[in-house]
Amino acid sequence: MVNIAVLGYGTVGSGVVEVLFKNRESLQRKAGQALQVKYILVRRDFPGDPHTDLMVRDFNQILEDPQVQVVAEVMGGLEPAYTYTRACLERGKSVVTSNKELVAQYGAELLQIAREHHVNYLFEASVGGGIPIIHPLHLCLAANEIEEIAGILNGTTNFILTKMIQEKMSFADALALAQQLGYAERDPAADVEGHDACRKTCILASLSFGEHVYPKDVHTEGITEITSEDVAYAASCGCVIKLIGRAKRGAPGEKIQAMVSPALIRHDSQLGTVDDVFNGILVRGDATGDVVFYGKGAGKFPTASSVVGDIVDCVKAADTIPSLTWKPSQGGNVADPQDNVTRMYLRCSSEQAGLGYAKSLFGEIQPLSREGQPSEEFAFIAPAMAEREINAKIANLEEMGVTISGKIRVLDY
Ligand code: HSE
Repeated sequence: MVNIAVLGYGTVGSGVVEVLFKNRESLQRKAGQALQVKYILVRRDFPGDPHTDLMVRDFNQILEDPQVQVVAEVMGGLEPAYTYTRACLERGKSVVTSNKELVAQYGAELLQIAREHHVNYLFEASVGGGIPIIHPLHLCLAANEIEEIAGILNGTTNFILTKMIQEKMSFADALALAQQLGYAERDPAADVEGHDACRKTCILASLSFGEHVYPKDVHTEGITEITSEDVAYAASCGCVIKLIGRAKRGAPGEKIQAMVSPALIRHDSQLGTVDDVFNGILVRGDATGDVVFYGKGAGKFPTASSVVGDIVDCVKAADTIPSLTWKPSQGGNVADPQDNVTRMYLRCSSEQAGLGYAKSLFGEIQPLSREGQPSEEFAFIAPAMAEREINAKIANLEEMGVTISGKIRVLDY
């Protein structure tokens, strides 16, 4: 029998405990041993909960118990999760987690500590909720050099955008519903400002390209500036707006390209059809070509599925799984976003200048229109060029008295 401790009893933690009890028999068969929840670390009382007998408030009770072999850290946040994870690994306990913030910041270091103590630090649940993506990257796709990854990596923002686009729901109402359904982070700013997608992009980039990529190095924009006008212009050219995290291997001697931002993508493309809380992750390998992973990217049971899968892996593993690793780095390994070459959607307003002036500046633009478009408003897609060049032309537009109200990259995924 293997004793497990669950650190945290929020949406994910309670889902993990429920799955471990509900699927106890099949899990025993798959793990080769019974999986027993011995402790649940909580910060408050849960009156009436069926597992109150397992609840403890003192982490040291778990740390000091040599019978606890696997710890599920589902608390979220950097502290005390970092201190607890380190301590458990150093005591020879494997740790599994859904904590993307922790993996994105300290992944290389925690993997190294796990290796030194012949245990595992597994984090399938940190990216894509219930979608298997970490295991495929380092196991099934091991034959490949991963060239590029692009994905809808945040369920909350995809849910909000889908509700805004398909049901004309307001941003605030859609966010409140996502919170009610248990998709959003404790502080939903992490979702809507893109930080959660950035952390996931960093984890995927670190694993794919073999060196730690830090969130602070990845240019990140959220969805708070997206308006119904932008949605209408996007629809007019067959596009939808999605929050896309992407990372591309640099050419030899060059830096990784990585960014998180909203983007116009074709509504019928592989990522364009990913709606609601679903995530879609496109992986481009040099042998396999494009592989797309799709499933529920947030929520209690999808995330618990990945955490419990990792627990089973820890139980079966005789030692540290060697392929789940990347090198530490000092950061600074991501290219300047100003060098990023992209097409750009721009929504502008001016009494004087219009599409003609935009054309004289940007060249072959694609003009857009929408129902109810005010006479002073114009929108277009500028041809591909470096963002530095686009920004210089935008400055020129602004000097002409043009107000830029919408600026969204146009991508081909
Ligand atoms: N808040 C996250 C999301 C949870 O919406 O994707 C899953 O990581």
